[in-house]
Amino acid sequence: MNEQLRLTIDDREITAQANQTILEVARENEIPIPTLCFLEGLSGAGSCRLCLVEVRGVPRFLSSCVTRVSEGMNVTTDSPKLASYRRMILELLLAERNHICAFCVSSGNCELQDLAQELGVTHVNYPYRFPSYDVDASHERFVYDPNRCVMCTRCARACGEVEGAHTWDVMGRGVHSFMITDLNQAWGDSSTCTSCGKCVQACPTGALAEKGRSTGEMKRSAGFLSKLSSMRNCGR
Ligand code: FES
Repeated sequence: MNEQLRLTIDDREITAQANQTILEVARENEIPIPTLCFLEGLSGAGSCRLCLVEVRGVPRFLSSCVTRVSEGMNVTTDSPKLASYRRMILELLLAERNHICAFCVSSGNCELQDLAQELGVTHVNYPYRFPSYDVDASHERFVYDPNRCVMCTRCARACGEVEGAHTWDVMGRGVHSFMITDLNQAWGDSSTCTSCGKCVQACPTGALAEKGRSTGEMKRSAGFLSKLSSMRNCGR
């Protein structure tokens, strides 16, 4: 049985299990923390940094989705400094690739768009890079547009951890990183892809989309991934 411990989140005294992350405990207690690379049912990646929180005594912000709670921890999830860092992260993501909602298949069903609205990102203070990466439309049913990708790796984790195919992976570093299929071959030529569509459901933006869907129709239902993961864990 997991050890019970006590901590404080936003001045509320809370009981948690020793193996839980700050994000899990916050959500259980209806304390909102914005996330982008986190998706319930998948392992944490801690890559987008939007879920940053302050922990008393720690001289840097911590990603709440990958930081486990500890006894006596004192966490702040919302402060002017955190809000400005989160806005900065979103602005950098928006400047890095081409997130032009008016032309995107996921407009209206996009977590990046929702976060920008929620966190009050009304403009971007950084120069746009306007990349022009090749779109991979070689798959029969799906399309990958790296110009709209935020490199959250939710697709790769859904594919590897839930479907067990591990078709997706990351190639390159920093702003020059991409999601690739197999050994960087066209998605339509992949020998591992099962065409299950879990990657498309897990994608928070319009980077992965189903062909033939018009703008605004690209509704996601990523919730089934956590159900599949927990059903699998029950069987162990
Ligand atoms: Fe925690 Fe992305 S949601 S780092």
